[in-house]
Parts: sequence; structure tokens; C-alpha cells
Amino acid sequence: MIVRASGIDVVYDDVGTGEPLLFLHGFPHSRALWTPQLTALGDRARCIVPDLRGFGGTSAAAPYSMDQYSDDAAALLDALHIERAVVCGLSMGGYIAFALWRRHRSRVRALVLADTRASADDESTRAKRTELIAAARAHGARAVADASITGMIGRSTRDKNPSLVDGMYDMLVSAPVDGIIGALEAMIARPDSTPTLATIDVPTLIIVGEEDVLTPERDARLMHHAIAGSRLEVLEGAGHASNYERPAAFNHVLSEFLAAVSLC
Ligand code: MLT
Repeated sequence: MIVRASGIDVVYDDVGTGEPLLFLHGFPHSRALWTPQLTALGDRARCIVPDLRGFGGTSAAAPYSMDQYSDDAAALLDALHIERAVVCGLSMGGYIAFALWRRHRSRVRALVLADTRASADDESTRAKRTELIAAARAHGARAVADASITGMIGRSTRDKNPSLVDGMYDMLVSAPVDGIIGALEAMIARPDSTPTLATIDVPTLIIVGEEDVLTPERDARLMHHAIAGSRLEVLEGAGHASNYERPAAFNHVLSEFLAAVSLC
């Protein structure tokens, strides 16, 4: 489906009925990241799954920012006449969820922060991202896919389920170069969301793959300690793309969370 929101044509899926559940994918993904959630949760929640600006079918000229992505998410909710949604963001999607909370918190019914971190980039991460921008400009999405695929997927999945690695690689390699560069620049510039954590007063579930090397368990624990009443789930045998690598386990904790806070 396509809807005009924030002055751009946003490609999105809108599947199921019930409590609105807005999914925000990571970098450099597309809404396809959330396919395992759509098929499992569509019978109990209204799953709204956009391609973020610059990714999948949603084209938009750079520059981007976390604030802009979060304004896009609020505008999408407006366009679909949804007042509040449970917001589930993975990695960069989590960075956007923090911005959404800062700028549009009345739209956030509950938060799911998956394989993400609150802190801003340190100098070495900024330098790596700057190199990745140069590689994307020179060699396209394949250079980014090659540099990212190992960190994106956990060791157990790489050993036991190579077809999932191939599926993820296909997603990374098909990301538009402009979207990749826009998102890398936006991540470099994003603020530290650590001070935001103490302001979060909606039900919050934090999920992290035990083998996540990009946003490891210690980042999840920091968020868990700083967000009052939050729940932390560590998924065994999953890496950074925990929802994709262990969909049944991810869907189980997400469903339990929704039930516990009486959202489904
Ligand atoms: C993501 O999956 O969105 C990225 O790993 C986030 C990042 O590079 O910080």
C-alpha cells in the first residue's frame, strides 16, 4: 500500500485488526524485516509496517535525521487515523522510537526496543560510518552488505541456518544507495538518548539477541535499568536481527508483553 505522509509516498503494510502496532526497521533494511511478525501477529494486532524514507519503496531525497524519521512515523499514524500505537523499533528503528517519544509521545501507547542502544555514536563508530558512506558511494549497496552481514546475524544462525543469512544479505544488497547514505549521516548526527530513558513512562519491553555484537546485551541492560518498570528479554541463539533469526521466540515475548499490558 502507498499513502502520502510527510510530503512523500510511503510504502507500507497494514495487516490485521486490533491494537495498532507500528514496526520501525533498522539499517539498511526494509519493511521485509518484519515479515515473520506480520504473519504471526496479524490475528491479534493491526500491524503497520512502513519502508522508512530512503528504503524499500519509499523514496525521499536526503538529508534525513532521526527527528525526520520520527515525524514520518507520526504523519503515517495521522494518515491512517491512528491516535496511538505500540511502537516496536529494531536497532535504528529504536533510535527513531526514542525521537518519536521525545517529539510525539502522546502517539506512543507502549514501546518495544529491540537490539538497540540509547547512546550516541562514539568517535570510532562515526569514523567507520564515514568510511561506509565512501564505500557506498564508490561501490554501491553490495559494499555495505558485505561489511554489515556478519554483525547483522548471530553466530548460531550463521552456523545452523545459512538460508537466513542469504535472505538478510539479499535485503541489505537491495537497499538504495541514497537511503543508505542518508541513514548513515542521520545516525552519525543522532543525539544521545540516555537522558530520554528516565522520561519513558509507558510499558516498555526490551529485547536483545544473546549473540548481538552490534548492540550487545550490556546496552539492553543499561536501558532496562534506566526505564522504570521495563521488562528485558534475552533471546538465546539470536544475534542483532533477533526478530528475524528467532521469530517464534520474538513473537512469543512480544505477544506476552501485549497481553500483560492488556493491549491484545
Ligand atoms: C541497524 O541494524 O539499524 C544498525 O546496526 C544500527 C547501527 O548501525 O547503529
